[in-house]
Amino acid sequence: MADESNTDKLRKLAHFVTPYKSRLILLFCLTATMTALSMLPPLVMKFIIDDVITMGNWHLLEVLLFISICLPITSAAMRVWVSFTNAYVGWGITTSMRRFTYEYMLKLPMRFYDEMGTGKIMSRIMSDIASVRSMVTSRMLGILVDFVSFWVALALCMGLNWKMACLLLLLMPLYFFNYYGWRTPMRESYSLWRRKMDQVSVGLQERLSGVQLVKSYGRERREHRSFAEDTHESLDAAMQTATNRAGYMAGSWGVSGLRNTVIFCLGCYYVIEGEMTYGAVMAFFSYSSRMFQPILNLTQIAMRLQSVMVSVDRVLEILDFPIEIKDKEDAVELPPIKGHIKFEDVHFEYKEDEPVLKGINLEVQPGQMVALVGHTGCGKTTLTSLLMRFYDVKEGRITIDGHDLRDVKLRSLRTQVGQVLQDSVMFDGTIRENLLYGRADATDAELIEAARIAEIHEFIMRTPEGYDSMLGKDGIKLSVGEKQRLAIARAVLTNPSVLILDEATSSLDSLSEALIQKAMTRVLKERTSFAIAHRLSTIVNADIIVMMDHGEIIEQGTHSELLQIPDGKYRQLYEQQAAGSIEEAVEAMAS
Ligand SMILES: Nc1ncnc2c1ncn2[C@@H]1O[C@H](COP(=O)(O)OP(=O)(O)OP(=O)(O)O)[C@@H](O)[C@H]1O
Ligand SMILES: [Mg+2]
Repeated sequence: MADESNTDKLRKLAHFVTPYKSRLILLFCLTATMTALSMLPPLVMKFIIDDVITMGNWHLLEVLLFISICLPITSAAMRVWVSFTNAYVGWGITTSMRRFTYEYMLKLPMRFYDEMGTGKIMSRIMSDIASVRSMVTSRMLGILVDFVSFWVALALCMGLNWKMACLLLLLMPLYFFNYYGWRTPMRESYSLWRRKMDQVSVGLQERLSGVQLVKSYGRERREHRSFAEDTHESLDAAMQTATNRAGYMAGSWGVSGLRNTVIFCLGCYYVIEGEMTYGAVMAFFSYSSRMFQPILNLTQIAMRLQSVMVSVDRVLEILDFPIEIKDKEDAVELPPIKGHIKFEDVHFEYKEDEPVLKGINLEVQPGQMVALVGHTGCGKTTLTSLLMRFYDVKEGRITIDGHDLRDVKLRSLRTQVGQVLQDSVMFDGTIRENLLYGRADATDAELIEAARIAEIHEFIMRTPEGYDSMLGKDGIKLSVGEKQRLAIARAVLTNPSVLILDEATSSLDSLSEALIQKAMTRVLKERTSFAIAHRLSTIVNADIIVMMDHGEIIEQGTHSELLQIPDGKYRQLYEQQAAGSIEEAVEAMAS
C-alpha cells in the first residue's frame, strides 16, 4: 500500500460517491450560480460610484437598487437548498461507507480483530470516515466552484486593467511555495495526532470495560493520571498540527497583504494617470481577492487533503485487509455432519515463528466426547478455533467426515458446529431473542426444552416477563453462571452436530454443574463434542481424554487408560486435583 498513489486510494473510495452523482452535479450547479451571483455586487458598486454618483445618471439607480434587493434574497434561497443537499449527500456517503466497512469487517478473519482491537476499529469507523466525508462534500465541491470563480474574476480583472491583472498573476506562485513548505510537517503532525487519539480511545475503552478492576484495586488515581498523560500527548500533537496550520496561514496572509499593497499603489498611480476611475479601482480590488481566494482555497484544500489522506489510509487499512478465510471458488456445502473428525499433523501459529500447535494428530469417531486438558496456554482453545475455521492451519489438515475444512462452505460448517465459551456474550434484547440468535425459527416448545436442558428455565420463569424479559443495559443483569447457562441453551437450540464447550460449566456451582452434566449427557450422546475443562471431575466420562502440553498432544486415552500410565501427566494432574479436593474438604470440616 506504501507505493499506492493518493489518486489510487481516492479511487477506491469513489464508488461510495457514485450513487450521489446527480445530487453532486446539482450541488455544483447551485454553488456555481451562487458564486456567479456573488460576483455582481462589486460591479453594482462600480456603477453607483462612477455612473450614478460621479456622472449623475440617477435613472440607473432604480435598476441597481432592484438588483441589490433581489440578489441577497435569491442567494439566501439557494444557500438553503445547497445546505440541505449537502447534508443529504454528506450523510448518505458517511452512512453507506460505515455500512460497507462493517459488512466487510464481518467477512474478515479473527486475525484482523486480534491485530486491530475494538478501540482502533471504532475510531476508524466513526472519526476517520467522517473526515473523509467532509472532503468529498465541502472540499471537493469547493474546488469546482473555485475553478469557476477564478476564471470569472480573472476575466473581469483583465477587463478592468489587464496590465495590473498580469502583474498580480506573477504573485500567484508565492501561494504554492508556501503550501509546499508546510505540506510535509502538516501531514506528519496530523498523522501523529490521529495515532495519539487512537491511543486515547483504546485506553478509554479498556478503562471503561475494566472499571470494576480499577475500583477494586483502588487504582482510580493512577488510571486518571495515565489517561491524563495520554490526553496530554494527544494535546501536544494537536498543538503541533495547529502550529503548522498557523504557520501556513501566516504565509498565505503575508502573500495576500503584499497583493493588496501592490493593488493600492498601482491603483493610485493609474487613477492619477487617468487610466482608471475610482469605481474601477474599487471593483478591481474586490475581484482580485476573488481571483486569489480560489488559489488560497486550493492550497488550503491540498493542505487539508494531507490530513484527510491520513484518514483515508486508516479506513483503507480495514478495507485492504485480506479476507483470508473465505469460500473457495469450488467450495461445496458440507452435508449434515456425522461427526468423524480428524486432525492430521496440524501446525498453527498466530504470529510468525511462534508455533502454538505443533503436529496435532487426533481422530474422533461420530458421537464421541473428547476432553481437552492441559495447562493454561497449551493451545486447547486454539485447537477448537481451528475446527470452527476461525483461523486456517499452517500445515496439515483438519477433516470432518472426510471433507477438508478449507474445501467446504464456511456457513455450512459453522451452522453445524456449536460453541459455548467461558465468557459468553449476550446482546441487548429479550431472553427469547438471545436464545433464538442461532435459530430464529425454533418453536416455543423447543425453546423451553433447550432452557430446561441448560437448567435455566426455572430462572427465566422467575424473571418479571419470563422469556420476554430484557437483558442488557436497561434489563436484567445476569450472573456469569446464568449467562453461561443461557449460552448453553442457545447452543443446544441450534442442534449442532458438533458441540464445543470451552470451560462452559466452569462458572457453575457443583450442584448446577452436576445437573447440567446429567442433561448434557443426553444431548451429547447423539453428537461429537469437545469439552475443555480444568476441573477434571467434569470430563472423567469422556470417550477420549487428550492431554496437551505446549501445543502437543502428550497423552491420549480414556480416564482409566490414562491413570494407568505411571508418571503420566494426566495421572499427576488428577491426583493433584483429587488431593486438592480432599484438602478443601478437610479445611471445610475444620472450619
Ligand atoms: N488471538 C491470539 N493472538 C495471538 N496469540 C494468541 C491468541 N490467542 C491465543 N494466543 C496464544 O496462543 C497460546 C495458546 O492459547 P489458547 O487460548 O489456545 O490456550 P488454552 O489452552 O485455551 O489456555 P486456557 O486454558 O488458559 O484457556 C497462548 O500462548 C496464547 O498466548
Ligand atoms: Mg482456552
